[in-house]
Amino acid sequence: MKIAIVKERREHEKRVAATPDTVKKLIALGFDIVVESGAGKGSQISDGEYSEAGAEIGADAAATINGADIIFKVQRPLIAGEADVDELGLMKRGAMLIAVLEPTSHPDHIKAYADAGIEAYAMEFMPRITRAQSMDVLSSQSNLAGYNAVIDAAHHYGRAFPMMMTAAGTVAPAKVMVMGAGVAGLQAIATAKRLGAVVSATDVRAAAKEQVESLGGKFVMVESDEGGETEGGYAKEMSDDYKKAQAELIAATLKKQDIAITTALIPGRPAPILIDDDMVASMKAGSVIVDLAAPAGGNCTQTRPGEIHTTENGVTIVAHLNVASHLAADTSALYSKNLLNFITPLVNEEKNGLAIDWEDEIITGILLTKDGEVVHERVKGGS
Ligand code: NAI
Repeated sequence: MKIAIVKERREHEKRVAATPDTVKKLIALGFDIVVESGAGKGSQISDGEYSEAGAEIGADAAATINGADIIFKVQRPLIAGEADVDELGLMKRGAMLIAVLEPTSHPDHIKAYADAGIEAYAMEFMPRITRAQSMDVLSSQSNLAGYNAVIDAAHHYGRAFPMMMTAAGTVAPAKVMVMGAGVAGLQAIATAKRLGAVVSATDVRAAAKEQVESLGGKFVMVESDEGGETEGGYAKEMSDDYKKAQAELIAATLKKQDIAITTALIPGRPAPILIDDDMVASMKAGSVIVDLAAPAGGNCTQTRPGEIHTTENGVTIVAHLNVASHLAADTSALYSKNLLNFITPLVNEEKNGLAIDWEDEIITGILLTKDGEVVHERVKGGS
């Protein structure tokens, strides 16, 4: 069976869906690998390194995808009318497409995969079960995004993070508040602590308290009987009363902070607003907000997704659209491993191909389209 790895063509994307290491392992599993020339460039991997690992190099997208049984990608493929290259149109009927497909924001693309007879798998829908932890792309990418958010904050903050007692005087430590203590938030807390900041954090999930405290952060949370967590471990949308109490708590805490890092997301919905105009106005000049929720609209009313800007009162708001891509060499390595870990248990040597259990919760969790139909319940229902 042939696996194609194409160059990512969407804006701001430097990652790639395989590394020389995963190529070697995929070949050992019995796959033939074709990597498009230049696919690894943004992650500092040359064509030569892929060749050495045993991959064939495809001259362009067409030569790479031609006849492939499986296509590994980072982002959803380009479809007709979007750009010069119609990646979807190059795929054969029945091919497996494995990528981050953003089905809730691009339902029209999912319909196009079904019409093209593609078996499309959305890696970000991976169920959060122990067996699938090594396949969890949201975790592997968010972890590094959380780290990068602190580095971005430090870069834009005109002061030092650690407390420094010098002969010429004392430099005060930066006060960092992290909103949303999931995978990205916890890594942001750990990174800010390592740099010497005084860190506090908030979340709607009570389970986050222990994790924040174990990293040396102070947990700040609204006292409420309302559970903020779904069975799947994600946050849910909170009541208006909760939101009001949370806004008051954040307002009181935020004006004493130098840096806010926001990561709050609710799967399939716009990001919740946690920092409003008045709160931004209450912050000191020189403060920085890094909004990791920018791709989902942002956690701050003044976030401009895709931009870095400074407000009238001197608060810099950083809102990159693809933070994981800023550390492409590392995020590509982890993402590629996630794909390898997903495909490995599906390989059936006797059949010289794949044996997929269509009832397995990993497959039902991420399979969007099959045999010309949209098959995923959540995507079919449009929620
Ligand atoms: P996420 O990226 O969906 O959201 C980020 C954080 O924002 C979450 O902690 C969420 O509770 C919080 N949040 C949402 N709305 C908020 C609001 N209005 N105010 C404050 N905070 C808000 O979440 P992520 O990082 O994917 O993690 C969610 C949970 O799943 C965590 O408990 C994590 O430890 C768990 N997890 C479990 C895995 C497994 O068992 N395989 C793998 C990865 C994560």
